[in-house]
Amino acid sequence: MKEWYDAIKEAQSVEKLEEIRISVFGKKGVLAEKFAKMKNASDEEKAQIAKNLNTHKSSLMNEFTAKKITLQTLQLQEALKAEYIDVSLYGSKSSAGALHPVMETMDRIVEYFSAMNFAVKTGTMVEDDFNNFEALNLPKYHPARDMQDTFYFRDEMLLRTHTSPVQIRTMMSTKPPIRMIAPGAVFRRDYDLTHTPMFHQVEGLLVDEEGKVSFANLKYILEDFLKYMFGDVEVRFRPSFFPFTEPSAEVDISCVFCKGSGCRVCSKTGWLEVLGCGIVDSNVFEAVKYENVSGYAFGLGVERFAMLIHQIGDLRSLFEGDIKLLEQFQ
Ligand code: DAH
Repeated sequence: MKEWYDAIKEAQSVEKLEEIRISVFGKKGVLAEKFAKMKNASDEEKAQIAKNLNTHKSSLMNEFTAKKITLQTLQLQEALKAEYIDVSLYGSKSSAGALHPVMETMDRIVEYFSAMNFAVKTGTMVEDDFNNFEALNLPKYHPARDMQDTFYFRDEMLLRTHTSPVQIRTMMSTKPPIRMIAPGAVFRRDYDLTHTPMFHQVEGLLVDEEGKVSFANLKYILEDFLKYMFGDVEVRFRPSFFPFTEPSAEVDISCVFCKGSGCRVCSKTGWLEVLGCGIVDSNVFEAVKYENVSGYAFGLGVERFAMLIHQIGDLRSLFEGDIKLLEQFQ
């Protein structure tokens, strides 16, 4: 039997040990064979042999169990060593997506006005002449209707040229008071350094009882909004003209590049135009059949905001899907 004690002692792996177990304790194993041979012996011998074999059987089993535990422990240690991860090493770079700078800017704008209790309205991109022009006091002869500017479909349908038609849709379907903004894509036939055929605007409209809404209200909220977007800038209102507002103004901020001292971006003026606004023209209220109300409205280009915030020189680069550019906005 000594050879089996040695075999157990020398086994190098759990698999080898298992082979030995089968050879020793198995149905056709050594012990079984020796017990079988016993039947030819005399009764006295039988007792002696059986005793002897049972002693070996239990001590071989003890050896086997002890060895098995040792080998399993070793195997576990090796596995742990092989699978060890050095958490202090640098990992391989995995790049995640990020919001497009235009959408990120739009989100910030929406965030500001949502906090000011303005509801978000969307309207439709394919509009009709009434909502996009007529009701906004842009009569048939107005230059904005030129084929040069507008993408037309048949039957006086068109791609909206601004988000102002959402004002009309909202007023046509809701009673005053109204506090809304309309963020969204708009379309014009234009393509150069500062124009793309599709871009984004946010329109704002506030309507309340007659005499309740003043230019001072408009000035206050826009100044606060522009400081939220651009930080500590100066804001100025310049008289201007829009068909849907009277009086109208364009709003400038002090140049974010040169801090107002004059540079290429602000054409040496120290100011950057960022939005249009005004007191809603009475013709607009008439078109939507609102009476005894007053209101203000404003509209801005989101790409222009994004370009000024991130100091991007060419508007078109925002739409080329260039990963090298977009990666910088993670
Ligand atoms: N709709 C104008 C545009 O596309 C922007 C605008 C200007 C909207 C003044 C307004 C406003 O509501 O009051 O250029």
